Amino acid sequence: MIAAAFRAQYPNGGETIRVFRAPGRVNLIGEHTDYNLGFVLPIALDLSCFVAVSDSPDGALRVYSEEKQELIRAGYPVAPKQMLIRSTVPEGSGLSSSAALEVSSALAFLDGRAIDPLRLAQLCQRAEGSFVGMPCGIMDQYVSLFAQEHAALKIDCRSLESDPVTLPDGIAILAVNTMVKHALGQSAYKQRTAECAQAVEAIRGLDASVRSLRDVDMTLFEKAAPLLPPVTARRARHVVTENERVELFVKAARRGDVERMGQLMGESHVSLQHDYEVSCAELDFLVDTAAGIEGVLGARMTGGGFGGCTVNLLREGAGEHFRREVVEAYGERFGITPEIFDCRPSRGAGAVNNFERIPAGLPL
Ligand code: GLA
Repeated sequence: MIAAAFRAQYPNGGETIRVFRAPGRVNLIGEHTDYNLGFVLPIALDLSCFVAVSDSPDGALRVYSEEKQELIRAGYPVAPKQMLIRSTVPEGSGLSSSAALEVSSALAFLDGRAIDPLRLAQLCQRAEGSFVGMPCGIMDQYVSLFAQEHAALKIDCRSLESDPVTLPDGIAILAVNTMVKHALGQSAYKQRTAECAQAVEAIRGLDASVRSLRDVDMTLFEKAAPLLPPVTARRARHVVTENERVELFVKAARRGDVERMGQLMGESHVSLQHDYEVSCAELDFLVDTAAGIEGVLGARMTGGGFGGCTVNLLREGAGEHFRREVVEAYGERFGITPEIFDCRPSRGAGAVNNFERIPAGLPL
């Protein structure tokens, strides 16, 4: 029980322990589009970070968490608290364990004090940039706060508005963890953001109204491509086509066209692999393997890339066979047993009343 663990950690704990939860996420489509102010379509997971908190009996703040700094800077003073953090989101898996930690601990620091959730998402995003050093987009923190049960969330990363997208019946979503995280990830992420900025700069020579790659459609891109260095052109092409794929995927989901959804995921992966160049051998292998398994509609890498997870769209009932095949093939090729997660769209972050939101099977 998280309460027991809390009391063991803080024998002089306060009277009442409150628990806050924030979920990890898996992104269905719309990768590396958020910091280009485009569209993403993540779902929040049951895998979550939980923070138990009580008032501190002696005025000392007992938790090591840098996220609080952004709250304080933004004028939300943090009262003395003691906290215990327990997460089921595997670290380094690309399922957004850091956003889950940022959001759940921010809620625990606030401890019931009202805050605009959009403001909170932005502060947590800023914490990731200023403390972790990742100039990430808003997707992870946003979905962790705003997700709805049973639906994916289409986020417009410019207007910061979102639309729930109910997924068709008869499908299952599984994430497969490569269990690797290549060191290149963080520097490549920064490099990609710079490459996208360069592309915007050059395209503005043709159309001064362009503020980000979000404003570029295929027609404009094709006009601009010959003016761009080849690598920059490929980066831009990924973002432009990926934004289109999000729209197409949402439409396909709304009309229940699961084959088209799967196909678009496959196209997204190819674009990330060859145009954006953020995949790696392990991710490519898992995507290729999935394509050959009965009942798989589509697969792609999810998250920043260079390791982490693939997301797989399956026909309902195909999961068990899929798990066996993937574990065998990946083990044979890389000598690693991949972790596989069932991804059911769960709701966004909040207080855990009577701990009822804690998923079954979790030792809380
Ligand atoms: C990481 C970042 C997100 C997003 C993805 C790529 O997960 O945290 O903001 O940019 O990469 O889509």
